[in-house]
Amino acid sequence: MSGLVSTGVRKLAAAAAVAVALAAGPGYTTAPQAAGPEKGRDDRGGNTSVAARLGGFMGIFNFLDRFAVPAELADPEIAPFFANLTETPGDIETCLAMLLDHDLGGSSPHNGFIVPATGHQCRSSMSNIHRGRNIPDRIIDKFIAIVGEQAAFVGVADSDIAEVAKVLERYRGGVRNK
Ligand code: HEM
Repeated sequence: MSGLVSTGVRKLAAAAAVAVALAAGPGYTTAPQAAGPEKGRDDRGGNTSVAARLGGFMGIFNFLDRFAVPAELADPEIAPFFANLTETPGDIETCLAMLLDHDLGGSSPHNGFIVPATGHQCRSSMSNIHRGRNIPDRIIDKFIAIVGEQAAFVGVADSDIAEVAKVLERYRGGVRNK
């Protein structure tokens, strides 16, 4: 393992990046926030942050797009909560990847980012985002567990999986039963 993410995973991530670029989604080939004054700034914690080990925004976005989100949607209990969306799956993946990158020490903005492909602006209020979805604790548990399972599958270290889970946990109160 190099930097806790194996070469195999990097190859997977590179393949996923190509797939994303070819797909109809946002089609990032580089972290979108790196286009402005942030260009060249990798992450706030140097190479020591969890975000850096996960490949920053691009690594996290590709992980969500190729692994975590498909696994969530393949679960018959989770999938119905993603019916009747007000934004595209690419918007959700972009905004969640930025939130995770930011909270794990990366350079993404926490919210407010405008997704180039759709014009959607990432929101800040978890309560508003999840309002009317009535998501119970048990489903949040399962959602976080599936993210962890997929992260383990692509070779993320247990300690980093725990950090990702901790970040998701912090938002539980805003997500639950709204
Ligand atoms: C556990 C922590 C969670 C976090 C941090 C989180 C975060 C997010 C974020 C950042 C977005 C994109 C919002 C934007 O436009 O800016 C989003 C959207 C969404 N999330 Fe979550 N989420 C969590 C859990 C869940 C769970 C457990 C479910 C359901 C099983 C869920 C269902 C949704 C849905 C349906 C949307 C799209 C809302 C819409 O179309 O308006 N989320 N979430």
